[in-house]
Amino acid sequence: MKVLITGAAGFIGSHLAEKLSLFGYEVWGIDNYSSYYSPSLKKANTNLLNQKDVQVINGDLRDPKLYQNLPLNFQFIFHLAAHPGNDINSSYDDYFSNNLDATKLLTDFAQKNKVLKHFFYISTSSVYGLNATYSEEQVPQPISWYGISKLAAEQLVLSKARNNSFNASSLRLYSVYGPRERPDKLFSKLIHCSINHLPFTLYHGSEKHIRSFTYIDDITQGIYQALKNFSKVNGEIINLGCEEEFSTREGISLVENITGKKIELIDLPARPGDQLHTRAITNKAALLLDYKPVTSLKDGVKYQLDWYISESRDSEALRPNAIEQGD
Ligand SMILES: NC(=O)c1ccc[n+]([C@@H]2O[C@H](COP(=O)([O-])OP(=O)(O)OC[C@H]3O[C@@H](n4cnc5c(N)ncnc54)[C@H](O)[C@@H]3O)[C@@H](O)[C@H]2O)c1
Repeated sequence: MKVLITGAAGFIGSHLAEKLSLFGYEVWGIDNYSSYYSPSLKKANTNLLNQKDVQVINGDLRDPKLYQNLPLNFQFIFHLAAHPGNDINSSYDDYFSNNLDATKLLTDFAQKNKVLKHFFYISTSSVYGLNATYSEEQVPQPISWYGISKLAAEQLVLSKARNNSFNASSLRLYSVYGPRERPDKLFSKLIHCSINHLPFTLYHGSEKHIRSFTYIDDITQGIYQALKNFSKVNGEIINLGCEEEFSTREGISLVENITGKKIELIDLPARPGDQLHTRAITNKAALLLDYKPVTSLKDGVKYQLDWYISESRDSEALRPNAIEQGD
């Protein structure tokens, strides 16, 4: 089975590529090594994938020429490439060109794949808005360019299922963490700051924000179960995440307890677009996919810390600038 994974050099994409390759799929990846965070970290992910027989094409999904050189016999497409987070330094165009315009070209390409069985769009709890504590029937009310652009792209993909162009579904993920997590995200930064005795910057009020933190293996397993059950999920939106919830404060204390090192906090002014509360309601995933995350936050953060210590990646590339609480 031949599968295409966009954003394969990124955090979740690289884990998914590794897993599907392990299970015998012929995996093709695409990534443009965007500078949202250090491309050297993405190159390191690609090197790892190359050792596992996964090639990642260096290409930009916004470039129409990219598609001329791609084969037209993919059976499954997983679309993870995106401009992520709720980043004050990113422009409207960064979000809408990478998240929406790129998805338009990719769906045009997907339509030409006559053997395509299913297109999986990887969406986010951010589409729900300030509070993401709902089942999939809730009317989305995104509050950031990220959330709005991801919702628009999700609906573009689902419209293809609605008008029978190809089968598709959307998987909405919740605060994913673990080895290779994006360096702008909570546990990456906490671990980095704790180990290196660096201050940790926090947007005002975010200590009280609540998240459904979900370990990376529980996410790739959920995506894999969606693949195995693709015939049941055409046109569906499915939340994938851990139902247990923790505040940012609890996350900070957990890292301090595991490393045995106190973290100095620096308060920045509050930032618009941050979600207050996310909690994955996963009854639908349990019903359709038999989905059940198994990793506790304590274990997952320990695995991430072990990876961080063993990997000692480019420390300049990992250096945090400001706390990112978005997906
Ligand atoms: N990490 C989370 O907690 C989380 C939660 C919910 C949803 N998601 C979704 O999961 C997906 C992957 O997120 P991630 O955290 O792994 O982010 P990531 O930034 O590590 O991965 C995204 C990859 O897409 C690539 N990319 C961006 N624009 C591209 C373009 N125009 N052409 C080709 N490649 C491009 C980037 O270079 C990057 O490697 C995203 O769609 C994101 O919205 C992530």
